[in-house]
Amino acid sequence: MVFYFTATGNCLAVAKELDSELYSIPQEMKKEEPLHYQADTIGIVAPTYSGLMPRIVRRFLKRAKFDASYFYIVMTYGMNPSVAEKEAIAYGEHIGVQVDYAASIQMVDNFLFAFDMNVQMAMDKQIPRQLEELKRNIQNRVKGFREPTEQQLNGFAMVSERNCRWPEMTDGTQITVTDKCIGCGICSKVCPLGRFYVGEDHRAHRHSEYCEFCLACAHACPQKAITLSGQDKNPNARYRNPDVSLVEIIRSNQI
Ligand SMILES: Cc1cc2nc3c(=O)[nH]c(=O)nc-3n(C[C@H](O)[C@H](O)[C@H](O)COP(=O)(O)O)c2cc1C
Ligand code: SF4
Ligand code: SF4
Repeated sequence: MVFYFTATGNCLAVAKELDSELYSIPQEMKKEEPLHYQADTIGIVAPTYSGLMPRIVRRFLKRAKFDASYFYIVMTYGMNPSVAEKEAIAYGEHIGVQVDYAASIQMVDNFLFAFDMNVQMAMDKQIPRQLEELKRNIQNRVKGFREPTEQQLNGFAMVSERNCRWPEMTDGTQITVTDKCIGCGICSKVCPLGRFYVGEDHRAHRHSEYCEFCLACAHACPQKAITLSGQDKNPNARYRNPDVSLVEIIRSNQI
């Protein structure tokens, strides 16, 4: 049993490699009944956001109850795994979920603020090799996590301080719809919080500016009409994992 959250498909692609029984976290969070899951092995696959699990994943872990003899968390990341594994274990302890194993896997970094997707997609991050190692470790029920280096701890402290000082770096207020919008509504279907709607003016609008800042909307827009107001490294380059379709992202996230 694997639960995943994805904006651009990396986590779903990894989840598909790890198990055949997959559950989207936004879909599970729509359910009103208590969330109680039982299986021999339960896994979570989530992207790293500023070194941490996305807020929606933390809310899910807090709300759900798990009975498993082996529980693991895999964090996908782009350029810096930072403290993600250690934080995943610590967050589990904090809310009473025993996490046996936490691991991270490097993939395309979808953080448009800092990276050009064309450059990211051209990099060889040796994903098949990492996936094989991950699958082997989970099969062998490996326990523990990699301690972050001094440099990673310092980097995490710096990013956390920056996010506190400039909340717009992570709160979604930077997301802007440009005149290229044709009102197709795809952004409203891929947003895990249902923030977008198409108005009578046939343009995309948001119910609220505040959100997960997962960037699913910006990456999925066929017109590249969604951009970041602060900085968008390459507004003409967007990404979706090659092993995941747009329909799969919609099915995973549509509210
Ligand atoms: C808001 C935001 C913050 C991110 N922070 C980090 C980070 O701290 N370190 C990192 O290596 N990648 C970071 N990333 C990149 C994602 O973790 C990475 O691309 C992930 O594989 C995306 O998964 P998905 O395709 O399933 O959405 C960030 C991405 C976003 C959108
Ligand atoms: S996906 Fe892009 S073009 Fe389509 S409604 Fe949203 S912003 Fe407009
Ligand atoms: S508005 Fe965009 S960035 Fe914010 S939660 Fe929705 S899809 Fe993610």
